[in-house]
Amino acid sequence: MSEDLDTARETLASSLSRPSTGRVYDFYLGGRHNYAIDREFGQRMVDMMPEARIFARENRAFVRRAVRYARQEHGIRQFVDIGSGLPTQGNVHEIADENDHDVRVVYVDNDPVARAHAQILLADTADPQRHFAIDADFFDGLELWERVVQMGGLDPEQPICLLVTALLHFVVPDQRPERMLAAYRDQLPSGSLLVLSHCTDEDTTPALQEVAARYVATTSNAHLRGRNEVQAFFGDFELIEPGLVWTTEWRPELASEDEPPFDGDPASTLAIAGVGRKH
Ligand SMILES: C[S@@+](CC[C@H](N)C(=O)[O-])C[C@H]1O[C@@H](n2cnc3c(N)ncnc32)[C@H](O)[C@@H]1O
Repeated sequence: MSEDLDTARETLASSLSRPSTGRVYDFYLGGRHNYAIDREFGQRMVDMMPEARIFARENRAFVRRAVRYARQEHGIRQFVDIGSGLPTQGNVHEIADENDHDVRVVYVDNDPVARAHAQILLADTADPQRHFAIDADFFDGLELWERVVQMGGLDPEQPICLLVTALLHFVVPDQRPERMLAAYRDQLPSGSLLVLSHCTDEDTTPALQEVAARYVATTSNAHLRGRNEVQAFFGDFELIEPGLVWTTEWRPELASEDEPPFDGDPASTLAIAGVGRKH
């Protein structure tokens, strides 16, 4: 393990030439797993568009509520989080483990820095028998899915909650993300859930377009989508009530007692979100 951690630390030291989307997001969240290059970029974005911090905070809050929903309402015990970012407070495994300690979680991110952080932080907070982090790309497709199932010890016959949150706005249309997501949806057994959030240019501040264009300087380009395009990512999955809504509008009652209710303009969250169920 210590050799692995040494490698992880070396990866961190050598991967700081560009702001990383995951670390910039951590900066928006007020986290500590970011570097000067990320903070400088992130601060410029916040100066242009203060809603960036609201987006990150409320997107994370949506993820927590959706995980709670999957666990409590559907009894799901297997979670796969693609584009998971840096572990932060209220990680999927922490929320999923709130009541029972029998939940398996596989985190996937293509940023070796995020993966290195995940490894270091999971070593402290997670159960190595049930919680895993893989350095892989959303576009690795079925090969990735096989790794996820094998490494996570997942039962492919039992429902899985697949999280793809705040990821697809870093995938441009030429990459055909809808095809790849459809391949993952096909792998999921009946009763599985898809949790998805995405920044949108419909009814949000025009500054978001400018901020998205600036992401060319980071580890990922950004691409905003309208409501119909985001809805199409769910394919034939049934959208659970209340459907595709601003992140803060998705089942706010599932927030924990220590999470203050959001009382701002829902459009200031910049992102829409939903949960779909496979029949
Ligand atoms: C904004 S963070 C979202 C983190 C988390 N999913 C959330 O909603 O809070 C986006 C993450 O997606 C990762 N990412 C971007 N493109 C990816 C790809 N093609 N495959 C896997 N991860 C990717 C980035 O490295 C980053 O950590």
